[in-house]
Amino acid sequence: MRGVRYIGAMRLGVYAIALCAVPALSLAADYVGSEVCRTCHSDIWTPFYRNPHYKSIASGKAKPENTGCEGCHGPGSDHVAAGGGSDTIPVAFSLIPPEKVLDTCLRCHSQTISRSNIRRSVHTDNNIVCTNCHSIHRSQTPKFLLARKQIDLCYGCHTTVRAQFSMPFKHRVNEGVMQCTDCHNPHGASAPTWRMADRPRMVDQAEGNEEPCLKCHVDKRGPFVFEHVGVRVDGCEACHYPHGSTNTRLLRRPVVFTLCLECHNGFGNFGPNNSGITQPQATHNLALPRFQNCTTCHVRIHGSNADSFFFR
Ligand code: HEC
Ligand code: HEC
Ligand code: HEC
Ligand code: HEC
Ligand code: HEC
Ligand code: HEC
Ligand code: HEC
Ligand code: HEC
Ligand code: HEC
Ligand code: HEC
Repeated sequence: MRGVRYIGAMRLGVYAIALCAVPALSLAADYVGSEVCRTCHSDIWTPFYRNPHYKSIASGKAKPENTGCEGCHGPGSDHVAAGGGSDTIPVAFSLIPPEKVLDTCLRCHSQTISRSNIRRSVHTDNNIVCTNCHSIHRSQTPKFLLARKQIDLCYGCHTTVRAQFSMPFKHRVNEGVMQCTDCHNPHGASAPTWRMADRPRMVDQAEGNEEPCLKCHVDKRGPFVFEHVGVRVDGCEACHYPHGSTNTRLLRRPVVFTLCLECHNGFGNFGPNNSGITQPQATHNLALPRFQNCTTCHVRIHGSNADSFFFR
């Protein structure tokens, strides 16, 4: 289907060149104003007053290229003169490739969503663009003009994530307590300072370039007099599954000590002369069940203001 449509777009190109050769016709179509579109597209026009894009028509102050229907579809004189047709309107979304969709919308929206690095986002890399998630004329959510309710929209493509939010321990996204966008920015995310400034999974930063988790779990924010470097550098996901887990507290491992020993094994670039992350000393008899639940003693595992070993 797509391929056939691209051929349509190419034909449009040829058509434009052909027009060029005829001096009597101007190549560039003119702006005719949105009222003209109403005559033939009343089904789209009638509900449009509720669309945020109607503001440009209502104000009457925007330039023609930024006003109403033609703000997205381009100048319509040729289209009107021809009595309609997909080939005659400069921007027919059914014919244009994803990158052209992106350009059309970003002409006005680059300011608001530039912080998200949308051109380098994983969605953009995978040809998931504005119109995959937003519907201008048939939105199911007046706010943000989403094509479907957010949860249905995201699960529509991310089916495995639904199973994660159905696990015994989870964030209550399926129950409507929170949303994907409490943690993710579907437009992309810029490099955070945590997790070695890698750009993980379009996880959105909260204020101050910190993990979004801290917006809600404020007691974990710090700064602490004694930081647990593992928390600060590797981020919350080093020990927790963010979506859901079969382990209590959303932990990555069923037994706490296996989690700790993944880092506290004498390797890594910490400690004197980069000798490695400290191992628990011999006083820790790991054969004893008492020592296996490390956080019974190291209770302030996210950081402490009182004790460098996180006892209190
Ligand atoms: C903010 C950009 C934008 C504006 C403004 C806009 N459109 Fe659209 N239009 C689209 C997109 C995107 C599509 C493709 C379908 C979709 O994703 O909703 C579309 C599709 C269409 C279609 C194809 C048929 C259909 O129902 O999908 C028609 C006709 C149309 N628009 C007419 C209009 C008219 C008339 C106006 C002014 C009242 C208008 N558009 C304003 C973006 C816009
Ligand atoms: C004289 C009637 C008429 C007027 C006026 C008119 N259109 Fe259309 N338009 C049509 C017809 C008919 C189609 C259907 C083409 C089809 O479905 O193959 C169409 C299709 C479209 C499409 C769909 C292209 C696609 O994706 O396939 C868009 C977008 C569009 N019109 C925008 C506009 C805009 C914007 C205006 C005002 C500047 C406008 N039209 C004015 C008759 C008109
Ligand atoms: C001509 C400029 C222009 C173009 C092109 C344009 N927009 Fe908009 N868009 C606006 C303006 C202006 C608003 C209203 C902002 C406001 O409410 O203050 C808006 C609002 C929105 C909103 C609602 C934001 C909210 O807070 O609810 C969404 C979503 C949106 N646009 C998506 C798109 C998409 C997708 C495209 C491409 C198909 C597009 N826009 C093309 C100017 C534009
Ligand atoms: C993968 C899905 C997805 C894609 C692709 C996408 N959006 Fe969005 N967009 C959303 C969701 C979900 C929201 C609502 C965010 C929220 O609830 O906080 C949103 C919100 C918005 C808003 C209003 C809030 C804001 O951040 O300013 C605008 C404007 C917008 N999108 C425009 C666009 C444009 C333009 C494109 C393409 C360049 C685009 N979006 C691509 C899903 C998407
Ligand atoms: C509590 C915060 C949070 C919520 C809510 C959340 N995510 Fe995530 N998600 C994350 C974090 C953090 C990662 C990165 C995990 C990692 O890299 O170890 C991630 C990773 C992902 C990934 C990539 C890795 C994978 O598991 O495939 C996808 C896709 C994803 N999330 C989709 C979603 C969707 C869809 C929703 C809503 C239904 C959602 N997320 C809700 C925090 C969240
Ligand atoms: C039209 C399909 C589609 C929709 C809708 C969609 N995504 Fe995606 N998403 C993808 C594809 C394709 C990828 C890249 C392949 C992959 O990682 O699964 C992706 C990747 C991701 C990733 C992983 C990024 C990484 O670094 O690996 C996250 C997180 C994500 N999407 C979140 C969301 C959220 C949140 C929503 C809803 C607002 C959403 N997606 C809606 C198709 C979609
Ligand atoms: C929008 C607010 C919000 C955000 C953002 C958020 N959480 Fe939560 N989190 C909660 C709530 C509320 C609960 C309580 C459990 C529930 O809702 O069932 C919870 C529960 C938890 C629990 C389990 C606590 C327990 O006692 O079992 C852990 C662990 C957790 N979150 C870690 C994270 C991590 C890691 C992130 C970032 C990837 C994060 N949270 C982001 C609101 C949030
Ligand atoms: C080094 C591993 C590790 C990292 C990194 C980590 N946690 Fe935890 N977290 C734990 C352990 C272990 C528990 C369980 C403690 C217990 O059961 O006493 C826990 C428990 C929790 C709880 C539930 C109990 C409570 O104290 O409220 C929340 C909420 C939580 N973590 C949030 C976070 C957030 C947010 C981050 C990122 C800032 C984070 N965690 C980073 C190991 C970690
Ligand atoms: C993601 C890696 C990572 C994980 C997982 C981790 N830590 Fe750490 N931890 C560190 C780093 C890095 C340091 C600081 C360097 C050092 O002291 O070796 C540290 C420091 C400590 C210290 C202070 C050591 C000192 O000498 O001051 C204690 C105590 C500690 N961790 C306990 C734990 C416990 C208990 C767990 C399991 C709940 C755990 N850590 C999980 C990375 C981690
Ligand atoms: C019964 C209480 C208790 C439990 C349980 C416990 N620790 Fe400790 N931990 C201590 C004490 C006390 C110290 C202070 C130094 C010492 O005497 O070994 C310490 C120190 C440490 C240090 C710093 C060592 C150094 O040389 O700086 C690390 C790392 C550590 N513990 C990790 C762990 C891990 C991982 C576990 C779980 C396998 C664990 N601890 C379980 C009491 C405990």
